Amino acid sequence: MCPSEPTAPSSPAPLAGRVELLDVTEEILEKLLDVALTDAAADDVTPPLGASAGWNQERISWFRNYHRAAAAGLDGPAAEKSWAVSCGGRLAGSIRLKCTGTEPSGMPALETGLWLGRSFRGRGIGREALKLVSAVASAVGAAVLQAETTAGNTAAQALLRSAGAELAGDGVITPLTARITL
Ligand SMILES: CC(C)(COP(=O)(O)OP(=O)(O)OC[C@H]1O[C@@H](n2cnc3c(N)ncnc32)[C@H](O)[C@@H]1OP(=O)(O)O)[C@@H](O)C(=O)NCCC(=O)NCCS
Repeated sequence: MCPSEPTAPSSPAPLAGRVELLDVTEEILEKLLDVALTDAAADDVTPPLGASAGWNQERISWFRNYHRAAAAGLDGPAAEKSWAVSCGGRLAGSIRLKCTGTEPSGMPALETGLWLGRSFRGRGIGREALKLVSAVASAVGAAVLQAETTAGNTAAQALLRSAGAELAGDGVITPLTARITL
């Protein structure tokens, strides 16, 4: 269920049909940035950048440049596509798919990552967004979807395990890598 929507215990609206992936147009980009700035930690959304901790101009510029580059999709120069995650018409966060090369099987190697605003977490939205992106990955011929997280990120680990991922690595010296068989 999306935040701030009335709860109807007798007939809850199914979440699955309410989570959508939207292309990041210029209009959506600014709205997504607003969700990121007001409802997410900078470290959840961007690499560490700039001299000051938290949100700063360097991180905001990175955010805009990143989504603009990813607008060209997997076949574009960045070999990456990002979407805004929408739930019941409200922007909740973002998910991405990047082509990192070829698996030993010859299938495309694809990696995903996502973040949601704090007020949207813990409601099944991440799980639904991951399902939608897995379907895109399957459609472009991938058999496995990979993601990386850290040892301390229990929410990400739970989400990835819930999607059937096998996790490898210690998450400290080597990244914790999840592989989801599609
Ligand atoms: C990680 C993140 C995307 C999870 O999305 P979410 O919508 O909150 O997750 P969901 O509600 O869909 O939950 C999916 C599963 O994870 C579990 N889970 C979610 N948050 C959890 C938490 N904080 N602790 C333990 N388990 C958690 C749920 O119980 C559910 O398990 P189930 O399918 O077995 O019932 C979200 O917490 C987030 O945006 N975090 C900050 C950014 C980040 O860490 N991104 C991860 C990059 S890989």
